[in-house]
Amino acid sequence: MIIKNADVVLQDGVKRLDIRVENGIVAELAEHIAGEGMDCTGLTVFPGLIDMHVHLREPGFEKKEDIASGSAAAVKGGFTQICCMPNTRPVTDNKVVVSYILNRAREVNLCKVHPIGAITEGQEGKNLAAIGAMKAAGAVALSEDGKSVANTSLMANAMLYAADFGLKCLCHCEDASLVDGGVVNEGYYSTLTGLKGSIRAAEDILIAREICLAESLSLPVHICHVSTYSGVQLIREAKARGVKVTAETCPHYFTLTDAAIADFDTNTKVNPPLREERDRLAVIEGLRDGTLDCIVTDHAPHHFDDKNVEYAVAAFGISGLETSFALSYTLLVKGGVLTLSELARKMSAAPAAILSLQGGAVEEGGVADLTIADLNAQWTIDPATFVSKGKNTPFAGRQVFGKVRYTIVDGEIRYREENA
Ligand code: DOR
Repeated sequence: MIIKNADVVLQDGVKRLDIRVENGIVAELAEHIAGEGMDCTGLTVFPGLIDMHVHLREPGFEKKEDIASGSAAAVKGGFTQICCMPNTRPVTDNKVVVSYILNRAREVNLCKVHPIGAITEGQEGKNLAAIGAMKAAGAVALSEDGKSVANTSLMANAMLYAADFGLKCLCHCEDASLVDGGVVNEGYYSTLTGLKGSIRAAEDILIAREICLAESLSLPVHICHVSTYSGVQLIREAKARGVKVTAETCPHYFTLTDAAIADFDTNTKVNPPLREERDRLAVIEGLRDGTLDCIVTDHAPHHFDDKNVEYAVAAFGISGLETSFALSYTLLVKGGVLTLSELARKMSAAPAAILSLQGGAVEEGGVADLTIADLNAQWTIDPATFVSKGKNTPFAGRQVFGKVRYTIVDGEIRYREENA
């Protein structure tokens, strides 16, 4: 395969190049490569996007999503690799579930799927899960996502064990006693709606705890879906003094505020909750100055029935795989916050580095995982067009720029936009 006349996003800028792909590898990258090829004039080639925080729901919640529908949503959204969280049923806390996910993903054969194992058995916060066995079966990280490990001593042990097996803990930060049933950010809009709020400290206390553990134990830690200005500052300060902390945020935290909850749209219900403008701006600044290493979706597909209920009892989560690239490009690159190379770093190179995955760059000899997009294409987000089973998005009707035309995995076209 030869990709011709594409604007290729490299680590330090964008260059008009041809790309020759052979045996799943980028064999040559040059200004002109002889031979017939795919004319990509006007299109931009990114290193295959990697989403290190996705919920695929299988096994157990296939009504919400399964590995086939989630993988289809991933490649449509431009993702060549995704990492799936362990809050399945049964919980992904052992090698059998890890192997099941890997086998099913191989059968589906769309994007690469990397399972994340639970930190504790059954995500119950009592005993550590079978960390070594999960690593041997192919788990790429550990997380209790959906909640935190409440017991600090157990969390310290988890970090030590994880490190022994070359794994990192990806920490969902939430003090359950402080959240205490809160469903939105505590502030003007929780008062206006009468919905129970939870304060920033519920997230920040756990961010601070995980940083303290990482610092004391001299181990790496990764903070999931940062939503507060104060959390961004805790991570910034920790990085400045050399703590091995990395962090992610999601498009909804740099795009929306809790003003979006005012009409009780349950698609705005997410954990951690949408915060205030001060937080949104701090998240953007955190992405700009490198405090926040990567952009993930926290793709949390839910069935219509899980959301079509009163706000207080609706499920938390946003279906994000099919909107993340366009929202990130529109808000951050067109918004003047990041360059295309920086966006590629946040959505590909950084997650690859954090989890030691292959990919992350378009380079000779590198894996031919490529995302090809039309950055000038303007479109309107419409959940009816989602291939994910989860149509739960607060972005319906929003105009965005940047449409994925092709997603190439190991040198094979695994997604091609209709008419592309
Ligand atoms: O909104 C969320 N939904 N946040 C989480 O941490 C978990 C996720 C889910 O599994 O639905």
